[in-house]
Amino acid sequence: MGTVPQVAWLIAAVCFILSLGGLSRHESARRGNFLGIVGMVLAIGAAFWQAIESEVSGGLSQGGLSVLAVALVVGGIVGGLLAVRVAMTGMPQLVAILHSFVGLAAVLVGISVFLHGHGGAENTDVIHDIEIFLGVFIGGLTFTGSVVAWGKLDGKINSRPLLIPGRHALNLAMLLVCVLLGAWFIQSSASSSDLIALIIMLLISFVFGAHLVMAIGGADMPVVVSMLNSYSGWAAAATGFMLSNDLLIITGALVGSSGAILSYIMCHAMNRSFLSVILGGFGTGTAVASAGVDRGDLVHTATTADEVAEALKNAKEVIVVPGYGMAVAQAQHPIREITELLQANGTRTRFAIHPVAGRLPGHMNVLLAEARLPYDLVFEMDEINEDFPDTDVVLVVGANDIVNPGALDDPTSPIYGMPVLEAWKAKEVVVFKRSMGSGYSGVDNPLFYNENTDMLFGDAKKSSDDILQALRR
Ligand code: TAP
Repeated sequence: MGTVPQVAWLIAAVCFILSLGGLSRHESARRGNFLGIVGMVLAIGAAFWQAIESEVSGGLSQGGLSVLAVALVVGGIVGGLLAVRVAMTGMPQLVAILHSFVGLAAVLVGISVFLHGHGGAENTDVIHDIEIFLGVFIGGLTFTGSVVAWGKLDGKINSRPLLIPGRHALNLAMLLVCVLLGAWFIQSSASSSDLIALIIMLLISFVFGAHLVMAIGGADMPVVVSMLNSYSGWAAAATGFMLSNDLLIITGALVGSSGAILSYIMCHAMNRSFLSVILGGFGTGTAVASAGVDRGDLVHTATTADEVAEALKNAKEVIVVPGYGMAVAQAQHPIREITELLQANGTRTRFAIHPVAGRLPGHMNVLLAEARLPYDLVFEMDEINEDFPDTDVVLVVGANDIVNPGALDDPTSPIYGMPVLEAWKAKEVVVFKRSMGSGYSGVDNPLFYNENTDMLFGDAKKSSDDILQALRR
C-alpha cells in the first residue's frame, strides 16, 4: 500500500480523536464537528487514492473504482437528504438505523474476506479466523438490534418489552452455540464446513440481536441506542482488523469505547444498572401501572401567560428547565428572547440541563445552542441543583420525568432512584405543557399538584410567545 493513504489515514485518525475531544464541550463543539468532517474527507480521499493505485497496478478488479464512486455518490445523496429532512425529535431513530448499516457492513466485509481473502491481511490464520468470526457476530447482532431499536423508537414496533419465558436461558444457549461454532470455524480446515459454521452463527446473531433489544422497554431505549453505538464501533474495529486498515481499527475503538462510556453515564443518570438494562424488562405495563397513583381529589392550578410574565417581572432569580416538549414545540427561540428581556431587567436567568432531558444525549444543549443562547447560562444538573431553594421562579418548559419528585421519595415509582432536578424547592414553579398527561416513562408527576406549582397549558412555543408579548407590554 502506498504511503499517501497511510499518512492520510493517520492524520484522519488524529482528526477523529480531536473531534471527540471538541464535541465534549459546548464551546468547542463546532470545531470538533469540523475536525470530524476533515477526518472523514481525508479517509474517503485516501480510500480513493488506494483504489486508483490498485487499479493502476492491476490489483483491483475491473470497474472497482467506478463501483466505489457510485457508492460514494449514492451514499452521499441519501445521507445528505436524511440529514436535511430529519427533525430533531427523529434523531434517535436516525442514529439507530445508521448503526444498523455499520453492523451490516461488518457482516458483508467478513463474509467477503472469508470467501475471497484480502490482499492486505498479514495475520496468522487463527487470528484472521477470529477476526472474521467476531466481526460477523458483532455485526449481525448490531444489525438486527439496531433495526428493532429503530422500529421501537419510530413507533413501528410496540415499545413494550417482549418477555418470553426463559429468555435469559435462550440468550445464553445462543451465545454458547456461537462459541462452539467459533471453535469449529477456527479448527476446521475445510472451507465448506467453515462457511456453514459462519452462516449458522450469522443467523443466530441476527436472532440474538433482535431478541436482546425486543426485551428492552421504551424507557431504556436511549441506553440501548448508545450501547448499539458501542457495538457498531467494535464491529467497525473488527472490520479494520480484517482489512488491515489502521484507521478503521482506531475509529472503531473510539466509537466502541465512547459509546460504552456514554451508556454508563446514561445508566448512572437514570439510576439503572447497565446489566439490568441489557437484560431487559424495564417499562412493562405492570411497572408503569403501579406508578399510576390515584391522585384522588388532588387539584392542580392553571395559570395564564400574563400572570407568568408578571411573576417573571418581579423575580430576581429564574431557572429554566427545558425538556422534550420544548423540542417538540421548537420553543427555544422565544425562550431565548424571554431570557434576554429578563437579563436586561436585572433578573439572573439560567438553564438547568438534566443528562437525559429530551430524547438523545445533549438534546437540550443542541437546541439552546441553535437558539444562540450564551453557553455560560447553561448548567448541568449537578452544578445547579442546590440553587433551586434560592430561586423565585422555575419555568419547566415541556419537561416532566426529569422534575418528578417521585423519583426521590416514591419507592413504588419505576423511576425511583433516578436523580432529578429539584424544581419543586423553588418559590414558584410554572409548568408549560398541553395536558396533565405523563412523560416518556408514563409515570404520574406529583409536582403538578404542589401548592407552589402553576400549570400553563398549551403548546410551549405559543405559551412562550404569549409571555414574550406580555413582557414587552
Ligand atoms: P418527558 O418526561 O418525556 O416529558 C415531556 C413532556 O412534554 C410531556 O409530558 C408532554 O406533556 C410535554 N409536551 C410534549 N409536546 C409539547 C408541546 N408541544 N408543548 C408543550 N409541552 C409538550 O420529557 P423529559 O422531562 O425531557 O424527560 C426525558 C424522558 O425521556 C426521560 O424519561 C428519559 O429517560 C427519556 N429518554 C431520554 C433520552 C435521552 S438520552 N435524553 C432518550 C429517550 C428517552 P403534554 O403531552 O401534556 O404536552
